[in-house]
Amino acid sequence: MESHQCQGLSLSLFPAGVGIDGGNSKDWEKNGKSIQLIKKQGKVKALDEEINSKDPRPCSIFSLFQHYLYLTWKTIHLVRISSHPQRSDKNNEFIVIHNGIITNYKDLRKFLESKGYEFESETDTETIAKLVKYMYDNRESDDISFITLVERVTQQLEGAFALVFKSIHFPGEAVGTRRGGPLLIGVHSAHKLSTDHIPILYRTAGKDKKGCSSLPRVDSTTCLFPIDEKGVEYYFASDASAVIEHTNQVIFLEDDDVAAVSEGRLSIHRIKRIVGDHPARAIQTLQLELQQIMKGNFSSFMQKEIFEQPESVVNTMRGRVNFDENTVILGGLKDHIKEIQRCRRLILIACGTSYHAGVATRQVLEELTELPVMVELASDFMDRNTPVFRDDVCFFISQSGETADSLMALRYCKERGALTVGVTNTVGSSISRETDCGVHINAGPEIGVASTKAYTSQFVSLIMFALLMCDDRISMQARRREIIQGLRVLPDLIKEVLALDDEIQKLAMELYQQKSVLIMGRGYHYATCLEGALKIKEITYMHSEGILAGELKHGPLALVDKLMPVIMIIMRDSTYTKCQNALQQVAARQGRPIVICDKDDYETIKSSTRTIKVPHCVDCLQGILSVIPLQLLSFHLAVLRGFDVDCPRNLAKSVTVE
Ligand code: G6P
Repeated sequence: MESHQCQGLSLSLFPAGVGIDGGNSKDWEKNGKSIQLIKKQGKVKALDEEINSKDPRPCSIFSLFQHYLYLTWKTIHLVRISSHPQRSDKNNEFIVIHNGIITNYKDLRKFLESKGYEFESETDTETIAKLVKYMYDNRESDDISFITLVERVTQQLEGAFALVFKSIHFPGEAVGTRRGGPLLIGVHSAHKLSTDHIPILYRTAGKDKKGCSSLPRVDSTTCLFPIDEKGVEYYFASDASAVIEHTNQVIFLEDDDVAAVSEGRLSIHRIKRIVGDHPARAIQTLQLELQQIMKGNFSSFMQKEIFEQPESVVNTMRGRVNFDENTVILGGLKDHIKEIQRCRRLILIACGTSYHAGVATRQVLEELTELPVMVELASDFMDRNTPVFRDDVCFFISQSGETADSLMALRYCKERGALTVGVTNTVGSSISRETDCGVHINAGPEIGVASTKAYTSQFVSLIMFALLMCDDRISMQARRREIIQGLRVLPDLIKEVLALDDEIQKLAMELYQQKSVLIMGRGYHYATCLEGALKIKEITYMHSEGILAGELKHGPLALVDKLMPVIMIIMRDSTYTKCQNALQQVAARQGRPIVICDKDDYETIKSSTRTIKVPHCVDCLQGILSVIPLQLLSFHLAVLRGFDVDCPRNLAKSVTVE
């Protein structure tokens, strides 16, 4: 599947392109001879309605094949062909859903075409469906298991993927596997589960009774689960938020795990044991409430998440910052902090908004740690084969913890012996599992594709880390106190900024028909410019550029005239005079910028035609207050332009392919 199409394997939270129906569930389970595909353009609701209109209603196992696809630029016909599940043939002998990308699919397709397979779509996923059928048709034994087939298929695949298969040849079974793409299994049981872990079943060498060398030896003493198969449901998903509606019990699969649900029982298999491998997968309880991922009274998740920020930053700091004693504790770093303090440099690696959180906090990290700090876009970092050393500490900032580029950079840094630190919002995600230590930002689930509260919580997390790094430095104590007291008042100040919502909506009404918006600032607010412009691009499809005001004379000034909408950020910090200077330069080109400034900065207010006045706080935290007006502005612009705020075209919340 092309990367821009994919939200992942999910249940009913996201817009779904596809559902699947096995007809009458009882018959299906008995004879397994029918799989129907139901494909529907639009949101999950439309698919649900279609499924509900079937008589009898299909059994619930099929809802796991709902798959998000967002293809506004293609025709419905193409949606129907390209969306998932993809099938092996017209009889739907094998069907598969896939999150990720198969890099060698063209070669595989050529091979399969040479064997007479006819393709319906251009997707890489269809190759997988055909390949599994090819393996089945060419099996050496009738006794071959579904698990073995799936393993044989994945051995031929290159790229990153999470896959779930069903087949009419294996009724009552579903098999899922992953390599490089996230995959978890939600377990809902009417009874207390009989175990809190699933042992891995390793392949044994040698042949089974029918001569198939790789069938698993399922030891009868191994505790397969559940004991009572009747009351248990399983959900394959790429994100925990997709299953929380059904269960808070989940198992996170590792790369190359093959999980099979068969006759109501779950088992997890691996071909061979590797050193350091955990011989079981734990069933974890998600600390996530359904209500946390509902929209409530808001029109979109993004709007809800913007307005949650007074609470989400508190959750990020909860139990970690002691405002009376000016101390910070980060449990996930405590065993490594001495090593981090001795390192040679810090490298912050991320993509998108998470990268901007690194840009936003770089200055204060440099100040408080007195270490060189590099901030890197994960893709570029990898393209450059950036030198990394054992005495480097590499941070991986990621809301989802699953972003492919960041994950690859993490593995690259680990191979070179650097200490790796995760800053993620998703407990159990690949980045949080594979890093040596880390900080969970605890912002709560973020559903809107455009990240908002995760950004401010990443920002606060990195500030807490900077404070921790200098907690025994006498010369830094006054500054530490100033910042910690800034953190104390931050939630109230965020509320004050959110109260500007009506004013910002009016501004959006003036701007929403424009083609372009420039956002200028410097110092602590350069990141705000980048992040504000990204928000506008992502959800309003307007052109927007974040411009470092120090670079104005080196090109961007040529864009300024009386028609070009310009937003400038001018705060009373060490760059104030320079920002005033930039304001004059823009004004001299007949620009009439909208200025985001300190509410007590009468000088700027007087000399500007339009201002958005935000409360003042300590310089290194002010970026949290300057970005919120731009989050709100992008939201209102998108609504006025009539776009789906939560699901912008061509974008995914979690980009699990390169
Ligand atoms: C995608 C999302 C962005 C996000 C970026 C990085 O592009 O749409 O909102 O900032 O990925 O994601 P991460 O989960 O690593 O923070």
